[in-house]
Amino acid sequence: MDESEGFSPAERRKAHVGFHVNGEPVEVAFAPHKTLLEVLREDLSLTGTKHGCELGECGTCAVLVDGRPVLSCLYLGLECEGRRVETVEGMACAAGLHPLQKAFADLGAAQCGYCTPGFLLTAKALLDSNANPTRDEVKEALAGNLCRCIRLHQDLRGRRPRRSLDARGRCGTAPRVALRN
Ligand code: FES
Ligand code: FES
Repeated sequence: MDESEGFSPAERRKAHVGFHVNGEPVEVAFAPHKTLLEVLREDLSLTGTKHGCELGECGTCAVLVDGRPVLSCLYLGLECEGRRVETVEGMACAAGLHPLQKAFADLGAAQCGYCTPGFLLTAKALLDSNANPTRDEVKEALAGNLCRCIRLHQDLRGRRPRRSLDARGRCGTAPRVALRN
């Protein structure tokens, strides 16, 4: 008997792709035109990866594929076959938050937080390959990640923002991110 019998034409056209997400093997069936961003959010319910410009310009959708940052809005899900994908959901472990997540939280690096997953994963890729980057290397690595709330860019330029929100959403002045020159 034909294995596809009983499936709708749309189901029959789906691609079946096997890869690892945050260390777990997954097998997903999806329309072949879907981006990795869509597969993560719609088929795997991993909504920590954010949907921004969908044009490769904001960095909000950044995830790691085989340890390298990619813009998941421009990366076809089909290309993930056999690869290792890391999303923000995989950063924390049983011992707690990833040190980068802890640093972002401690320093109030997020305001609305929409850009934060992309920043975290891009920064993780940098630190995984270079544990002690210079200020310029950090700026270069994060150049493709935009923050509409501005704050992180102010910190990277070494300027203290006039006002920021603390963890409870109250206005205040937050410490600068310490970066090596
Ligand atoms: S949503 Fe992918 S770069 Fe903006
Ligand atoms: S914290 Fe709001 S977009 Fe960056």
